[in-house]
Amino acid sequence: MKATGTSNGKIILMGEHSVVYGEPAVALPFLATSIETTVTKTSGTVTLDCVFYQGALSKAPERLLNLVAVITETAARLNQPLQDFNITIKSTIPPERGMGSSAAVAVATIRALYRFFEEPLSHGVLLELTNISETIAHGNPSGLDAAMTSGQDPLFFIKGQPFVPFPLNLTAYLVVADTGISGQTKEAVNSIADLYKTAPELTHTAIATLGRLAEQAKVAIEGNKPVELGVHMNQAHEQLAFLGVSNRMLDDLVQVAVKTGALGAKLTGGGRGGCMIALTADKETAAAVSSALLDAGAVNTWTYQMGDDKRDD
Ligand code: MEV
Repeated sequence: MKATGTSNGKIILMGEHSVVYGEPAVALPFLATSIETTVTKTSGTVTLDCVFYQGALSKAPERLLNLVAVITETAARLNQPLQDFNITIKSTIPPERGMGSSAAVAVATIRALYRFFEEPLSHGVLLELTNISETIAHGNPSGLDAAMTSGQDPLFFIKGQPFVPFPLNLTAYLVVADTGISGQTKEAVNSIADLYKTAPELTHTAIATLGRLAEQAKVAIEGNKPVELGVHMNQAHEQLAFLGVSNRMLDDLVQVAVKTGALGAKLTGGGRGGCMIALTADKETAAAVSSALLDAGAVNTWTYQMGDDKRDD
């Protein structure tokens, strides 16, 4: 007897970090990447099989603490003892790259466990359980990653408010590039919290500016104005760099993208590593930007066609 659950990666177009402080964010599902969790009946202790670890759940390493917590809490919600099943996780979402892999692992695993035990799962309970994992992963989650990895609509997201799906009325391409450096969402989120204490006014201004830029980005998308969106992305990257969540490699890749003809570029996700995104007007420029980013040291790129919501690797 077995059951599976799936989820997808996400890209934050605008609003990372400021979303934690109640400002809006604009995010896209990243369906080129996904996770599949399979729960299989066994006998005896619960076992885990994922890229980082194979063995008893009770002996899983520290870095999987959030996953162990989510499995334990989900079994408790289901009134099931922690025994007699194996959990196998297969992922094409690169971990620690700002693509929501930790939330996506939780979403796929919770779904698989609910199916395995043949219980209905509401979206509210799914988000609540996923945020247990996210709280362990970085302390103060906005809920954006849980929302994006459990759904397939672009969202205008404000913490604690109902999600607002919206169509991507934009004739443009997005190139996503992986720096090859693990992102440090927890450290970056904590460092902004510290900055808020030492320089409250400057930090508040930057966070509020990022919020206004996310609103302007939504207007630009709705009006099919990629040039305006590109300008807002460049401005957002400057604010994020000011807040200390960029790094040298991200700054370099942003510059390379803009020099190669991108309308705008910025880091995406937690920052300090992870990924950056660049917006281009057409497919040819997207290909040129992608190859320039690879030449400049990016380890992987993906191209995302925004207008009709198609993606190609
Ligand atoms: C991480 O993908 C996005 C952050 O804004 C944190 C969060 O929203 O919880 C940095």
